[in-house]
This record gives sequence, C-alpha cells and structure tokens, in this order.
Amino acid sequence: MPDTNSGPERPDADLIRALEESNVHPLWDRYAKVIPVRPSAPDTPMLWRWRDIEPLAARAATEVPLDDKERRALIMAHPAFGGDTVATSNLIGAFTILEPGDRAPMHRHTAPAIRFGVDSDGAATIVNGRRCNMGKGDLVLTPPMCWHGHINGSGKPTVWFDALGSLISNHLDASFFEPGAENPEIWSVDEGDELLWAAAGMVDPAAAFEPAHSPKFHYPGDQARRLLAAMAPGPDGARTMRYVDPVTGGSVMHMLDCYMTRLDTDAPTRPRRATYNAVCLVTEGRGRSDIGGQTIEWSERDIFTIPHWEWARHEAIGGDADIFIVTDRVVYERLGILREEME
Ligand SMILES: [Fe+2]
Repeated sequence: MPDTNSGPERPDADLIRALEESNVHPLWDRYAKVIPVRPSAPDTPMLWRWRDIEPLAARAATEVPLDDKERRALIMAHPAFGGDTVATSNLIGAFTILEPGDRAPMHRHTAPAIRFGVDSDGAATIVNGRRCNMGKGDLVLTPPMCWHGHINGSGKPTVWFDALGSLISNHLDASFFEPGAENPEIWSVDEGDELLWAAAGMVDPAAAFEPAHSPKFHYPGDQARRLLAAMAPGPDGARTMRYVDPVTGGSVMHMLDCYMTRLDTDAPTRPRRATYNAVCLVTEGRGRSDIGGQTIEWSERDIFTIPHWEWARHEAIGGDADIFIVTDRVVYERLGILREEME
C-alpha cells in the first residue's frame, strides 16, 4: 500500500487515488511489497516445553472422547499467526495421545503428514493396509490420499509427534478429506507390502508404487540411530541424515522433508539460515539453540521452531543430543527458490 504515514502528500497522490479507484495499482510507490527484497518471517522462534504440555496431554487423555471425527492431538500454535493453528510458516506440529485400546478411524486427505514415535511402543498406524509399528524414534509417513488410521494395542497411554504440511494445500484451496468405511479387519493387518521397501539398497524391480511420494512408509528409529552413529559430522559440525524416497533419493513427500540431526557434545554448529521452515522435536539429550538472536534451552520431547531466513546455531549440553526435524525444504527446492547459507 502507499506510504501514508508521514510527510506532505506526494505530488502524484491524485493519480494514485484515480488508479486505485479504477482497480489499478501503480508499481512505483509499492514495489517493495510486490517484490520484497528479502524473506521476512512473521514469527519468532518458539519453544514448547514437554513439561508444560505433559499435564495437558494427561488431561486430554481422560477428558476428550475419541469419536469418528476427532483426533486427540495437541497442536502447537504460534501467536504470531493470529489464532491460526500453525507452528511456523507452512507447518503444523502436534502431539497425539491414545489411551489403551483407542482407535483413530481410517480416513485420507490431501495434506501430507508424518508421525514420529515418542512413547508409543505398541501403537501402530495402518497406512494403505500396511501395519507400521510406532516404536521410539520410528517415522511413519501418511502421504497424500493414502488411507490411514491409528491404534494403541498396548496396555498404556501412547504419545507420538505429528507434523502436517496442510497449509500449502489449504492456501492453494486444493484440500480434500474423506472418511473411511468401518471395517474391523483393517486393524489386524500385517506389514504387507511395506516389507518390499524395508531393506535399504535392495528392491523388487517389479514392485508397484505411486511416484508422488515414497513407497516406503515406515522408517525404523533403530536404523536411523545406527546411521547417525556411523556418519561423520557435516560442514556445519552436526551429523544430519535425510529420510528419503528409496526410488528417487529425494524427499519422502512433495511437501514435507524430514531430517534427524545428532549434535556431539561440546561441538556447537556453525550458524546456518535457509528460505525454508523447520519444526524440531528433541528426541534425546538437552542443549540450546540461538535462533534469530534468541536463545532457546531445550530438553527431551521439547518442540521448537526455526522460522525461515533466521540464523540458527545449535549446541548439545552434557552429552550428545538428537533432534528430529520436519521441514518444507522440498517445496522451495522444487520451486527453484531454495537458498541456504552458512557462516
Ligand atoms: Fe490424517
């Protein structure tokens, strides 16, 4: 919009008003809004501590009924987004709680989602008829329009972390949701075709898959931890693995791109910034991050965000730390607008 805050009225003010009344905008007085000179995130880095969320999760487990339409999820909401249910630009992060025997019914939607096991041994997500167990550190994909439901087959409450990339499809007004049919047999399936994709580096050349997302839905936590232990630190000083589509070697889905970082103790990372956004779940250890000039101290099960184009530096304290990171990096990569820098 034109600058109306200060000084005398500009000499072309009459023309600008005439243009606006004709539903035409001049570029000359507002080009920095039409073409910003750099990204500017609406949000600051945010921390949600597990110790604050845990009592609310316990209340939700007893006070919220699980019916056909609801998920017992506590969703991180940054106040910078004016009441919208969003953690940072483009990304939703949440914890879901299931009581013993709970089933969250089958459905599918356009929005891509992931689950990451926190304290969820005995729970499973059924994705397109495949049982994906949700042990500690297991990543489970629920790609766009894949049928999925959840079950807690253990004798205790379970908690896992969720992330959704629904905000882009919502913004493009291309979101669909379909409830599934009631079918008790769906809950007793085994891994099925997930076994075709369970072994890294080995495939059945004839196995069918949908090219829009990874054919592999379940990424076991013990395999991720073994890989991290074998890796050397990267250029920023952290060991960071990417979860990939085994067919393409690229991101697991078109709108969500997941990573796991191991921070060695007493080895602060070099500051980095990027045009994409990140929601981080601390899975082991404790430490601190300097993000956008703000220091965040975190420990296990805390969630924090790295808004786009903010410098971020991380440090483990008192031992190694692992952080699961879900990002929208692939969106920027595919659109050719990815920029990453390191100091
Ligand atoms: Fe869902």
